[in-house]
Amino acid sequence: MRFKDRLIVITGGASGIGEACARKFAEQGGRIVITDIHLDAAQRVTSDLDGHAIELDVRSDASVETAAESIENDIGPVNTLVTSAGVLQPPHPPHELEVEEFDRVMNIDQRGTFLTCRAFGTRMARRGAGAIVNIASVAGLRSTPLHSYTPAKAAVISLTECLAAEWGRSGVRVNAVSPGHTLTRAMQAQVDSGERDLDALASNTALGKLVTPDDIADAVCFLASDDAKAITGASLPIDAGWLAATSWHSYGGVREKYDRQ
Ligand SMILES: NC(=O)c1ccc[n+]([C@@H]2O[C@H](COP(=O)([O-])OP(=O)(O)OC[C@H]3O[C@@H](n4cnc5c(N)ncnc54)[C@H](O)[C@@H]3O)[C@@H](O)[C@H]2O)c1
Repeated sequence: MRFKDRLIVITGGASGIGEACARKFAEQGGRIVITDIHLDAAQRVTSDLDGHAIELDVRSDASVETAAESIENDIGPVNTLVTSAGVLQPPHPPHELEVEEFDRVMNIDQRGTFLTCRAFGTRMARRGAGAIVNIASVAGLRSTPLHSYTPAKAAVISLTECLAAEWGRSGVRVNAVSPGHTLTRAMQAQVDSGERDLDALASNTALGKLVTPDDIADAVCFLASDDAKAITGASLPIDAGWLAATSWHSYGGVREKYDRQ
């Protein structure tokens, strides 16, 4: 029960990776606050976990500040923040990427991460303790045809380092995980409808499989826990070796499984 009595706030916790994190923290004794733009979906998750659901739109400074203030006043001081609220974008060439779409992704994925870290992290720093785990992406570590999402996630990784240095002496650790393609319900639906090919996605990784939301949640819990007490400013890829394997395509792909002797 390594999170016994600790208060954990998760943005975008109503679905996917954020929901998996909420369930994993709860299994280990954490008290859960799920924040999301979709309150009804957040309530569906917290009804299983005996947690709190709060409406919060990460694009709005007022919404984030109001939620942070009411959580701290009404529920208690926040020990851990996980920023999982995020959106993807279609792989348009730049001349077809509407500036409104560019701004939408930046506002949620980059600016929203800053606003939530600022609201909760400043309060943690003033108390002298806390841990933040930002959900970035391997897209932020390589080039992709996602001309807003990828720079936004690179900025999240950079912000993680900036805030780690900002609040380190005040007892707040700030880390990021960078998921690879993750088999969320949304991804499974795309696979079921034939839009994405699971084998093609999996074949780009060293381990030959996709990661699951549970895999991400395990890493998030580790970074939030005292087991990671000397780790701050890090970005940990959880990608089944996608970063390691992609350059091997220039050499015909990764090695097949060795024959057993
Ligand atoms: N699924 C993947 O393959 C993958 C890979 C790398 C990184 N990520 C990142 O992981 C995070 C979670 O993604 P997911 O796949 O679980 O997606 P998801 O769509 O299942 O969950 C995202 C949640 O964020 C919420 N949200 C969206 N806009 C919001 C806003 N303005 N304010 C508050 N909440 C908002 C949604 O309602 C949803 O509940 C995202 O930041 C995403 O970029 C996902």
